[in-house]
Amino acid sequence: MLSNVLADALDGLVGEWARTEELAALGVQPNMRCLLYGKPGVGKTMLARYIGFKLGLPIVEARLDGLVSSFLGTTARNIGSLFDFADRYRCILFLDEFDAIAKARDDAQEVGEIKRVVNALLQCLDARGRRGFTLAATNHEQLLDTAVWRRFDGRIEIPLPDEEARKKLLARFLPPLLPGDAETKMLIWMTEGMSGADIETLISGGKRFLVMKEATGAAGSRRRGLLGALRRQATLSGQLFSKHRRDLLLASNEELAAALVDDAGLSQREAGLLVGISQSTVSRRRRETSVPNEG
Ligand SMILES: Nc1ncnc2c1ncn2[C@@H]1O[C@H](COP(=O)(O)OP(=O)(O)OP(=O)(O)O)[C@@H](O)[C@H]1O
Ligand SMILES: [Mg+2]
Repeated sequence: MLSNVLADALDGLVGEWARTEELAALGVQPNMRCLLYGKPGVGKTMLARYIGFKLGLPIVEARLDGLVSSFLGTTARNIGSLFDFADRYRCILFLDEFDAIAKARDDAQEVGEIKRVVNALLQCLDARGRRGFTLAATNHEQLLDTAVWRRFDGRIEIPLPDEEARKKLLARFLPPLLPGDAETKMLIWMTEGMSGADIETLISGGKRFLVMKEATGAAGSRRRGLLGALRRQATLSGQLFSKHRRDLLLASNEELAAALVDDAGLSQREAGLLVGISQSTVSRRRRETSVPNEG
């Protein structure tokens, strides 16, 4: 679930990869090494697996943090074995948590050891060359060794989901709940700044709340149920929300309804219905707080 622009760009890339041989016949080589970077939980690992699925290729997946931390003394050898293994098959080699090597550079007692590890990695990347695709994912791209960074001809930033992507994510995680237009608008606005993983956490927490509410016989209107669920999440998992939105969720009904109109684009009627106050109360509240126009 990505923004349309990014999804199209990735489709293009995958399309090129699927036609490596045709391209090679024309003397063109697609990018064979691609780095996915972005904040935690934006879907990098999932995307790498999806690319494998689209190409119909198996993925050899290795988390470098495991490889580095558990066997610091033999890390270089482990990396060698990993690449040897991947090079034997037609597959994608996926190096997840790729910054582990860079991070180890600061932690390691022995600088020489890390240099050896980075060199081993560079050599392996070079040797793999045109043999197969290499994908790597990191959320600390700024920590990567510049020589390592340069090895990747494709560098794709996976951003936090924009409005369009949040809409898709909600449509994926909400069913069988089917929110109306106003609720969807509210959710899209509420989830600004969240990663895909945050949105998933939010919705599953909300669903748990709705089930518990029904179990205790306090179902009420489903619309109010959704807002109740959000409010509970704002209390229990406040870190998911931007501070402004969390404050609004925990503020009075009037204040929240006014924000839903002014910031989230709901009509006064929709905001009133969602929050459970009359349209005229919403309108009054907005008049009270609006800054009078000078002149
Ligand atoms: N863009 C997205 N589309 C669909 N699902 C997503 C997306 N982003 C996150 N998710 C959900 O969040 C979960 C975690 O995503 P994933 O592990 O791929 O993130 P990541 O970027 O690799 O995070 P990290 O940096 O912590 O490794 C996924 O399993 C999926 O359910
Ligand atoms: Mg990941």
